[in-house]
Amino acid sequence: MKFFVDTADIADIKEMADTGLLDGVTTNPSLIAKSGRDFMEVTKEICDLVDGPVSAEVVALDHETMMKEAETLRKIADNVCIKVPLTIDGLKTCKKLTGDGTMVNVTLCFSANQALLAAKAGATFVSPFVGRHDDNGFDGMELIADIRRIYDNYDFGTEILVASIRNPVHVLQSARIGADVATMPPAVIKGLFKHVLTDKGIEGFIADWEKTGQTIPAS
Ligand code: G3P
Repeated sequence: MKFFVDTADIADIKEMADTGLLDGVTTNPSLIAKSGRDFMEVTKEICDLVDGPVSAEVVALDHETMMKEAETLRKIADNVCIKVPLTIDGLKTCKKLTGDGTMVNVTLCFSANQALLAAKAGATFVSPFVGRHDDNGFDGMELIADIRRIYDNYDFGTEILVASIRNPVHVLQSARIGADVATMPPAVIKGLFKHVLTDKGIEGFIADWEKTGQTIPAS
């Protein structure tokens, strides 16, 4: 399973990239606004920090303007992945861009039928929003399982990028289902490392080691 970080905060992205476990980055207009940075400038900086796909979202609602925005965004770096909303214009844009070899992430997916459409439009990634789905009384993980089943039925190559992840359980369930990618806020990624018994175990080992009075000699 690939791990993407869902933020436009450079310090957070650097910290995650330093773990060696980061496969990509997703941003959206809200995350760009939160960063307080210039969209083009911060996207370029992110693309220079990570080798994997960096999703940058168009803000136009019509196909023609989306194409113009995508043209500008894809010039930022080779690893830019154009993010488009799951609308008729968004999928028209997706079909055109992926036909030209550009990576596309179709976002704001809330149903399995929408995911089917994204795959038919040749999307590189589809982003079902599990947290927002749960918030509205639906079962986000049921949606992921449905999409996995449908994509496997027809051998679609579109990768399921689970978005709007709120906690480590969402990640665990996505991995069990076989989602391809999880994009997570930095706090959720950090939460995956944590276990109270790991901390307790380290404490015990270090205390016992200190009693030996030994050090591991440098080679
Ligand atoms: O990648 C989409 C994600 O950022 C949405 O997350 O928490 O705003 O629902 P959230």
